[in-house]
Amino acid sequence: MCGIIGYVGTRDVVPVIIGGLRKLEYRGYDSAGIAVVDDSGVEIVRAEGKLTNLEAKLNDKPLSGSFGMGHTRWATHGKPNENNAHPHRDCNGKVVVIHNGIIENFLPLKQDLQAKGHEFKTETDTEVVAHLIEEKMKDGTDFTEAVRKTLKELEGHYALVMIDGSAPGTIIAAKSGPPLVVGLGENENIIASDVAPLLAYTRNIIYLEDGEYVIANQQQVQVFDGNDRPVDRAPKRITWDAVMAEKEGYRHYMLKEIHEQPRAVRDTFTGRMFEESGEVFFNDLQLTAEEWAKIKKVHVIACGTSWHAGLVGKFLLEDAARIPIEVDYGSEYRYRNPIVDESTLVIGVTQSGETADTIAGMQEAKAKGAKLITICNVIGAAATRMADGVIYTNAGPEIGVASTKAFTTQLTAFFLLSLYIRQLRGENRDDIRYAMHEMRVIPHKIEDILKKQEKHIEALAHKYYKANDFLFLGRGVHYPIALEGALKLKEISYIHAEGYPAGEMKHGPIALIDENLPVVSVATHTPVYDKVVSNLQEVKARDGKLIVICDEHDEAMKKFADDVIEIPWTIEPLQPILTVVPMQLLAYYVALRRGCDVDQPRNLAKSVTVE
Ligand code: F6R
Repeated sequence: MCGIIGYVGTRDVVPVIIGGLRKLEYRGYDSAGIAVVDDSGVEIVRAEGKLTNLEAKLNDKPLSGSFGMGHTRWATHGKPNENNAHPHRDCNGKVVVIHNGIIENFLPLKQDLQAKGHEFKTETDTEVVAHLIEEKMKDGTDFTEAVRKTLKELEGHYALVMIDGSAPGTIIAAKSGPPLVVGLGENENIIASDVAPLLAYTRNIIYLEDGEYVIANQQQVQVFDGNDRPVDRAPKRITWDAVMAEKEGYRHYMLKEIHEQPRAVRDTFTGRMFEESGEVFFNDLQLTAEEWAKIKKVHVIACGTSWHAGLVGKFLLEDAARIPIEVDYGSEYRYRNPIVDESTLVIGVTQSGETADTIAGMQEAKAKGAKLITICNVIGAAATRMADGVIYTNAGPEIGVASTKAFTTQLTAFFLLSLYIRQLRGENRDDIRYAMHEMRVIPHKIEDILKKQEKHIEALAHKYYKANDFLFLGRGVHYPIALEGALKLKEISYIHAEGYPAGEMKHGPIALIDENLPVVSVATHTPVYDKVVSNLQEVKARDGKLIVICDEHDEAMKKFADDVIEIPWTIEPLQPILTVVPMQLLAYYVALRRGCDVDQPRNLAKSVTVE
């Protein structure tokens, strides 16, 4: 995800910004840029690729000043090239903007501004903000007021930093979604995506809340709420060291990434589903209704956690498409001589986009004439280069080896794809709109689980961490979640764990059940709820310890199970995004209690590029 930094003070701004962007590199990016205001106005330098490319350009064209901003871009709208790299400016080159997130209504705003004569130079959604501010200033409105008016017109989610070259010394930054923090220094103030770049200058930090904006100059910082009322917020004193700062204070990347899921899921659906029209739109994937009508079957290829996402995807897509869907391990696919032709749609699901087994399967399918798409998290990765279409999961870099936010964003991508297919099949728009509404509120529901259940799950981990084996059960869309729960636990805690469809337990695994076996099951209200309850009765009758992930206020389940983890209700196709979160937390806290290396479990690599 993009990295943002803005500085106003007495130091030479270029090393401050480049140093800050280095600290934000872990967020992942494909291009970078810097804007510095000096006596001659605003100077901008941008470069595709890594920060070293930007530094090389700055060596050729040195900039200096004590006021400016810098950005590392993770492309969403427009190709990852120099022209689309931030900062972006208005027609006069004075109003300069950097941005993390997505301006959902950028298209109508852009069309309106173009009609008023504004010339756009990039494909980004961000540029619209600079022109909108410029437009507001035409009647003499000052920069601050113009920004205020502009913010009221923006939809979507964003962290923005804005400056006006003709009003040097003032930075305005706004937050609606992505993080933004302000560091208060002596005669200097600094704004960034997180605290890591600030710690070299100050430990007094203000965290902006959604809807707020800040006006900063060298001497002072004023925070305002969405109604332009001043907010009195005392700074927090941060005592983190540099490594802790990169983890935003979390003990492990895995825990940080579990907590990032509301944001990551939101970033994956934002700008792609439009409730008003009931339409789904993908930038990098276009299928016409005629092309879709020629597709007779779908093959999903993936490994590990991504394969589990594929299994959930099968439920969603089969229901939407009413054609056969197969899900294969990458390592199995090409060696079984799959039946593939031009009427086959193949979906490679891969966080890294570099997994050798998945790539090999995708190559095999392509060679046989399939239409190939990928659900991938890494821009420009091998999988995206070979595919005809891409749905990027905008999870941001995943550093913990155990995949968490990549998984829930893959589920989000599959859900959107299922709505897209419904749209291509001409299904009822009201049903699609309702599904979109449910998707939109999922991030809040994940937050709810994290807020209400984390401590409880930590306590459960302390109760069960000594077990030698765990069984995970689920039915329907929750069967893959049982597999994922078992995989998470075994890979980071080294406890043997198996996932099973609950109805299959009686055909073998039931022999394992005794008073020492914790059985983790999903039993939310789906059409198979009663069947799952019957399966759980079988566990109970054999003294197994039942930990059940169930709907809130399921009083009967609370009486029946040894422990319950309650989650908010949502529609069935979206439930896996919620039910997996307690599984991730359980695995994390069990591993922690057992003293395991959570972020780098033994024998595992983040990206498996060998067969
Ligand atoms: C498990 C995990 C792995 C990966 C698998 C595929 O937590 O991370 O099972 O899911 O190696 O990796 P990608 O998705 O990068 O192809």
